[in-house]
Amino acid sequence: MHDGKTIVVTGVASGIGAKTCEVLRLQGATVIGVDRNETDNADQFFKADLTDPASLDALVEALPNGLDGLANIAGVPPTAPAETVLKVNLIGLRHLTDALIPKLADNASIANLASLAGFGWAGAVEQNKDALALDFDSDVTGFCAENELNTPGGRSYFLSKEALIIWTMQNRWTWRDRGITMNCISPGPVETPILGDFLETLGERAEEDMKVMDRPATPNDIAPVVSFALSSNAKWLRGANLTSDGGMSSHILCGMHDL
Ligand SMILES: NC(=O)c1ccc[n+]([C@@H]2O[C@H](COP(=O)([O-])OP(=O)(O)OC[C@H]3O[C@@H](n4cnc5c(N)ncnc54)[C@H](O)[C@@H]3O)[C@@H](O)[C@H]2O)c1
Repeated sequence: MHDGKTIVVTGVASGIGAKTCEVLRLQGATVIGVDRNETDNADQFFKADLTDPASLDALVEALPNGLDGLANIAGVPPTAPAETVLKVNLIGLRHLTDALIPKLADNASIANLASLAGFGWAGAVEQNKDALALDFDSDVTGFCAENELNTPGGRSYFLSKEALIIWTMQNRWTWRDRGITMNCISPGPVETPILGDFLETLGERAEEDMKVMDRPATPNDIAPVVSFALSSNAKWLRGANLTSDGGMSSHILCGMHDL
């Protein structure tokens, strides 16, 4: 499926990123892994910190030309400070992606790991527009204070994933002349080292979700979907949000619309 391709995977040291790396390699890709933590599970590894633009610029400089894919999987849960959540899950991800575009091959694919947590983006469009105006030169601390993102309940995380889904839609055709696609994947709860952080922050809401689901996902459920989004089989998907959540988003929609 990915023979001869070189694909960059962020968040490669753990969870969904590590499994995606394994799956892509089994399917023929050469994987360049990126993470703040060292790992030897990829063909090549670069240590980089998504909260630090200098680290990301150095990474982009070091990466080769002609990359066939970028899987933006690194992320932090809502237990991290709001500023870190926005920087890793949104601002750093966008900084890296934008800087890497010139190094992507024509017909490359970009897959962003969003979340079921981004489901409610349509109910907070103006706040999301403000979040999408942030970059590393912005007053992110001030934005978090103004939007009360440091309060318990995980709004920083929800906002980061809502904005990522919106940004993915906005980029449906940005690089159409070069055949480059961007899509996102939205899992519900996944058994990785940060699942406990979600349950801790989201409390009852998460417990309710877990009751109606037969089980949380495992990285094995999600990695093949990321691989598909990066494959030539997904070329007509553009700006799409693939809800790989065991039926949770459909369940919520049916509840909302009395279906
Ligand atoms: N686990 C879930 O329930 C779940 C559900 C929906 C979406 N997601 C999303 O899936 C993605 C992967 O999460 P996971 O569950 O595999 O978690 P994980 O903690 O197992 O993996 C996240 C990886 O991102 C890396 N990372 C974190 N901050 C970084 C930084 N500043 N710079 C570079 N790398 C950094 C970590 O070192 C880690 O290797 C995240 O974007 C997360 O928001 C997770």
